[in-house]
Amino acid sequence: MIALGCDHGGYELKQEVKKYLESKGLEYKDFGCDSSASVDYPEYARKVAYSIVNGECDKGILICGTGIGISIAANKVKGIRAALCSDCFSAEATRLHNDANIVALGARVIGPGLAVKIIDTFLNTPFSGEERHQRRINLIEE
Ligand code: RB5
Repeated sequence: MIALGCDHGGYELKQEVKKYLESKGLEYKDFGCDSSASVDYPEYARKVAYSIVNGECDKGILICGTGIGISIAANKVKGIRAALCSDCFSAEATRLHNDANIVALGARVIGPGLAVKIIDTFLNTPFSGEERHQRRINLIEE
């Protein structure tokens, strides 16, 4: 199950992302927000982050205007590794190296075409499992 969350800056892109996930037959749970009316991104970052640490969802997608605020907020939750990505190389690397469990996107930074390619890369790249990467992740979690 994929957790989705956004603020008003990410609402329109989240609608595109939902269409994409549906076209791929991927299940998601949308934690809001539900319109382009102004909201506070930490609220949605937390909802998505807690759904992952409590096991309800496996991975998350967070979207705000830049992707910055919502990723900072998500990374305050222990066990969350949220990666702000604007390219597919980073999306692949953060799965391989960081075992990132949330990808954050900036709706005012990238368009929907690139966003879904980044999401596709993020969802389909496994963690490498290499000892040095696991060791570094463990150090983050200490
Ligand atoms: C909202 O205007 C904007 O600040 C927010 O979407 C995000 O970019 C914050 O980091």
